[in-house]
Amino acid sequence: MASQPDRRPSPAARYLVVFAIGLVVGVVAAVMLLRALQARQDPFPGALMHVMARQTSELKATAAANRCSASDSVPRLQSLRAMANDLESAFPGLRDDARFAGAASSLRATLDGALAQPPATCAQVTAALEKIGNDCRACHQDFR
Ligand code: HEC
Repeated sequence: MASQPDRRPSPAARYLVVFAIGLVVGVVAAVMLLRALQARQDPFPGALMHVMARQTSELKATAAANRCSASDSVPRLQSLRAMANDLESAFPGLRDDARFAGAASSLRATLDGALAQPPATCAQVTAALEKIGNDCRACHQDFR
């Protein structure tokens, strides 16, 4: 009997197996936790901001490409104006803050002004973008 070799795995191999199982279980649990946390978050506020940012940068790009007729800029401005209506409902926790409401109104007023007299030259598109950017910044400085 003493001549039979020891077939039990070495302690190091057993530790490695336990470690690998722990690692896999840990990764699966972490992914499940992150997914659950993500599902609880409202995607609307971030989505609204990202689409507004996209419309602003598209407007910038058309101005850079020297396409500055009203038919290029007005649809973007209209889209921004419509989205600006939802600022309060996107951030229900901030809607009662006077500075937030003021910044939201100010952006809407800027866009109303731009739509009342649609920019007809690239210089005017750039000037409108400047004003819009200032309104975005005014709110972000306080709340982002
Ligand atoms: C009245 C307030 C207000 C105005 C006006 C506003 N934002 Fe925001 N914005 C916020 C807040 C609050 C956040 C932070 C959201 C968060 O982290 O949950 C934010 C975040 C963002 C983000 C980051 C979003 C993210 O998920 O990382 C972008 C991009 C953005 N805004 C773009 C814009 C653009 C472009 C404009 C102007 C056309 C604008 N915002 C105007 C309040 C505003």
